[in-house]
Amino acid sequence: MNEAHEYRDRASLDRALAEHIAGLLREDIVLRGAASLAVSGGSTPRGMFACLAVQPLPWDHAHITLVDERWVDTDSPDSNERLVRETLLQGAAAAAHFTGMKSAHATADTGLPEMSARLANVPLPFTCVVLGMGNDGHTASWFPRATNLQQLLDAGSDQLLGTCDPVTAPHQRMTLTLPAVLNARKIILHITGDEKRSVLARAADENYPVAAITEQHENPVSIWWAP
Ligand code: 6PG
Repeated sequence: MNEAHEYRDRASLDRALAEHIAGLLREDIVLRGAASLAVSGGSTPRGMFACLAVQPLPWDHAHITLVDERWVDTDSPDSNERLVRETLLQGAAAAAHFTGMKSAHATADTGLPEMSARLANVPLPFTCVVLGMGNDGHTASWFPRATNLQQLLDAGSDQLLGTCDPVTAPHQRMTLTLPAVLNARKIILHITGDEKRSVLARAADENYPVAAITEQHENPVSIWWAP
């Protein structure tokens, strides 16, 4: 069964979720000497990142990477790496080991081998993967109607990374695949607002990509929501 955590407002949600993630990271650092966290971009996690950055933990034993990235320069306002550097990798959390998902290659497809090699330096399985969701039912960069969506959602694949050319959003994408997410110790879905809650409620019937996560029983999802 998926877990549901509902909060009265986004500030309370951000604080509680940051404390929860910090607890998971501390646990894994004690258990295996290191912890790894994959985070999403977009607008939703900004406040949570700021709360997480001030959590007391041995950040130099933490590895942080992205769930997905837009294929834009890392100083672009649309860059998820820029978001993480400006909001999460601050203060004590700046000691964390960050692995980005953007190379100098012209396209995400040509950058894939280098990104896969980089990801091999991150302790796997992930301690925690934090997903977001769009109003079109996408999560990570698994976009509806993308030509290779089934490939990204192939649970039997041994590929941890893939690319996507969305038709419902801008920019080519680099993204974790479904197997990479399902293999995580903890899968978190962080969403806000009534519209996203109703999108999530329809996900299975509409066969939205997020259903690949919420409708599976291998690794229940922890859903964190506020209005
Ligand atoms: C991205 C994200 C993506 C995000 C959703 C939700 O790069 O766009 O990683 O999966 O979580 O698009 O975005 P918002 O939080 O802005 O609604």
